[in-house]
Amino acid sequence: MYSSLEEVRNDCLKCERCALCSTRNNLVFGEGVPDAKIMFVGEGPGEQEDLQGRPFVGRSGRLLDYYLDAFDLDRTKNVYIANIVKCRPPQNRDPRPDEEDACIHWLREQTRVINPKIIVCLGRIAATKLISPDFKVTVQHGEFFKKGRFLMMGTFHPAALLRNPGNKPLAYEDFIALREKIKEVL
Ligand code: URA
Repeated sequence: MYSSLEEVRNDCLKCERCALCSTRNNLVFGEGVPDAKIMFVGEGPGEQEDLQGRPFVGRSGRLLDYYLDAFDLDRTKNVYIANIVKCRPPQNRDPRPDEEDACIHWLREQTRVINPKIIVCLGRIAATKLISPDFKVTVQHGEFFKKGRFLMMGTFHPAALLRNPGNKPLAYEDFIALREKIKEVL
C-alpha cells in the first residue's frame, strides 16, 4: 500500500509489466496536484509525451489545456492528468487489452493516493476501460456515472476533436456539465 504519489511514481518508473517498456523513451506517469479533486485520464502517451515524459504536451494537450483554462482548471493548481497506459504504443496505435490490463495497476494506485471525487475519461479507450466496456462517447458524453467512490464522466478525446472540430461545442457543453458537478459535490 503506497502512502504518497512519489512512492507510486518511483516504482512505476521501473515498470516492465508489458512489452511497451522496451520501445519507450520515457514513461509518462502523470502530472498535476497530488490531492486533486478532479482527475483526467487519457489513453496513452503520444510522440511528444514519450519524448518529454509528461502527459498531454503535444497538439491535443494544447487543446486540453485550452478547455481546462476556460473553466479555471489547471494542471499546476487543481487537477491531475494521467493515462490508461504509461508507455507509448508504437505508431500511436491503440493500447492492446493486455497492455491496459498490465498497466491499470498504476492508475489504480494513483487514484487510491490522489483520491479524486471526479474522474473525466478523455475518449473511448479510457471510458470503456473505466466506465463501461460498451461506452459510446458520441452518445453518453457528458453523463455522470457513480462508480465506487468516484463520479465518472466521459468526453471526447482532444485528438478526436482536432480531427472532428464539429464536436468541439459538444465537448464544451461537457465541461459546463463538469463545472456544475464540481459546484454540486466539491
Ligand atoms: N493522448 C493521450 O491519450 N494521452 C496523452 O498523454 C497524450 C495524448
